[in-house]
Amino acid sequence: MTVIHEHFDLTVPPLDRSPTQAEIQAGIRESQAVICTLNERFDGDMLAAAPSLRVIANYAVGYNNIDVDAAKARGVIVTNTPDVLTNATADITWALILAVARRVVEGDQLVRQNQWTGWSPTQMLGVDLSGKTLGIIGMGRIGLAVARRAAGFEMTVLYWTRSGRPLQPANPAWQRVSFEELLRRSDFLSPHIPLTPDTHHLLNDAALRLMKPTAFLINAARGPVVDEAALVQALQEHRLAGAGLDVYEKEPELHPGLRELSQVVLLPHLGSATIETRIRMGMMCVENVLAVLEGKPVPNRVA
Ligand code: DGY
Repeated sequence: MTVIHEHFDLTVPPLDRSPTQAEIQAGIRESQAVICTLNERFDGDMLAAAPSLRVIANYAVGYNNIDVDAAKARGVIVTNTPDVLTNATADITWALILAVARRVVEGDQLVRQNQWTGWSPTQMLGVDLSGKTLGIIGMGRIGLAVARRAAGFEMTVLYWTRSGRPLQPANPAWQRVSFEELLRRSDFLSPHIPLTPDTHHLLNDAALRLMKPTAFLINAARGPVVDEAALVQALQEHRLAGAGLDVYEKEPELHPGLRELSQVVLLPHLGSATIETRIRMGMMCVENVLAVLEGKPVPNRVA
């Protein structure tokens, strides 16, 4: 904030809630730059309401909340926050993998609710990670960071990417397979892809039906990549062992039935939520805004 104040007039919406679309439209009428989060939708109408706008700096790496084509058509530059949140997001993915495999949340509740009667050989059994197969969809920065962490857990890594391009950096221990094989063989399946029309409901009913009944689905990418209704049904019918979710189709709403499933761990979109990461994301937004307004090369331009 201080950095921006030094250079520009700054308008900040109420911090205790997300502003409505109408409030944003009214607020950005004369703005040249906007820093927004994934909660704010920048479509054609919103852009039309801000004729002086030169840059939208998205406080996230995913920018599915912005109509990039409409922005391009108006000459508005769009930036995001890559790299700085890779480790935090990979870590939360592993937090979910461990939580579902070892029933961490259920165990906490048992103790907290004073229901624990003492150690027992068959109490709250989970599953091993070592020797299991981790399936990753998308090997961008976050997918790669998730894959690297798997070595510490002695897991096999399979992956599928939409582009089929060679990995940078490659790792001979990781095996590229077809989408169908990935679904069939993974014990833990985790998508790390952006939300686009092509990836919307990539994990639909037909895809989930190919997974093993002992498998867990993890999602720390974007909610609509998974058909949430199909997932709830698969879990209710025990066609999947469980799920660890950080993101949802209609945040902050959840599909009916999801909350009631004990084999599911539900986080409130915490992927990048560490103090260090959020500070770096904020600084990156400021750097991008300053670069555009001062006519310098823009470090994290996506459009
Ligand atoms: C992102 O950056 O896309 C995250 O989902 C928000 O932290």
